Amino acid sequence: MAPDATPTMKDADFSQMGIYIDGRTKNELDELLRTKPAAEVNARDLYALSCMHYMDDEPMQNAAAFFNLSDASEVASHKVLDFGAGFAGDARLIAEDHPACEVTCVEVQPHIHAAAEQLTSIVGIADRCKHQCVDVFEEAVRGAPFDHMLSVLVVLHIPDRDALWKNLARALKPGGEVYVEDYFARAPLTAEDKRQLAGPVACPYLPSEEEYKKTLEHAGFVDVEWEVMNDRWLPFVERRLAAFRAAEARNRRVHGEAMCAELDLFYRTVKELFERGNLGGVRIRARKAM
Ligand SMILES: C[S@@+](CC[C@H](N)C(=O)[O-])C[C@H]1O[C@@H](n2cnc3c(N)ncnc32)[C@H](O)[C@@H]1O
Repeated sequence: MAPDATPTMKDADFSQMGIYIDGRTKNELDELLRTKPAAEVNARDLYALSCMHYMDDEPMQNAAAFFNLSDASEVASHKVLDFGAGFAGDARLIAEDHPACEVTCVEVQPHIHAAAEQLTSIVGIADRCKHQCVDVFEEAVRGAPFDHMLSVLVVLHIPDRDALWKNLARALKPGGEVYVEDYFARAPLTAEDKRQLAGPVACPYLPSEEEYKKTLEHAGFVDVEWEVMNDRWLPFVERRLAAFRAAEARNRRVHGEAMCAELDLFYRTVKELFERGNLGGVRIRARKAM
């Protein structure tokens, strides 16, 4: 890409990102099934191996509270879009914990979509946790418009923010709520920040807080709450790397040496980025205007 060209979605390169390597969750599922029969596995059992974000189930719990998913009255409507659902750990927990909900998982990478769908079929909630392998730049999400949208650590992969947020707004009902966890440029990014973000993190572009909020406003979102997470995410990513290294023998047995090296690179890179602190982490709550 020329230095001044507007980046497009195609510029995100997933090939260097350890946690997306095909087979990782299958290895973990095989490990789980060594000690628990498939018929007894529930969505919580699958959570740790599926989840690719920080702070365990906090994002999903926060989103459920913001969307008021415990309101199961007849007037309540809870069609939830999980945009960039990955292996769908959050979507399955939402569906399992909130019987009034129907969750649609949208995932762009076919091998991740297929693995997520298989994990959902194991826990028997496929009627309320549905999967679509969709690129929102090319086709509409089936089942739109939705009441709520959850999206955790996904938008950072997609440089064309104006087009993305307009597409996402189209997928929501007027007044629809969004809960997003994402990255932003908290301070000017160094050359090393940019190199690490574009490589193992597949994040070719980051806006500042001001730029991000402008994009949301132009796409028709209001009541934007912006909660900076660096103070909590840095200790988390430090602990994540330490725990991964402490379990080296187990991880080599489950994943093999090559995948462990890719995972170590990913966890280390994210830790270094948050340690330098120009990378920001944020929780965003907002609504599409009525
Ligand atoms: C870091 S993972 C997070 C997955 C999940 N939200 C979680 O927290 O466990 C980001 C996911 O977004 C997906 N993704 C990236 N760009 C996407 C797009 N344009 N449409 C749908 N999914 C996308 C990636 O393939 C990946 O599975």
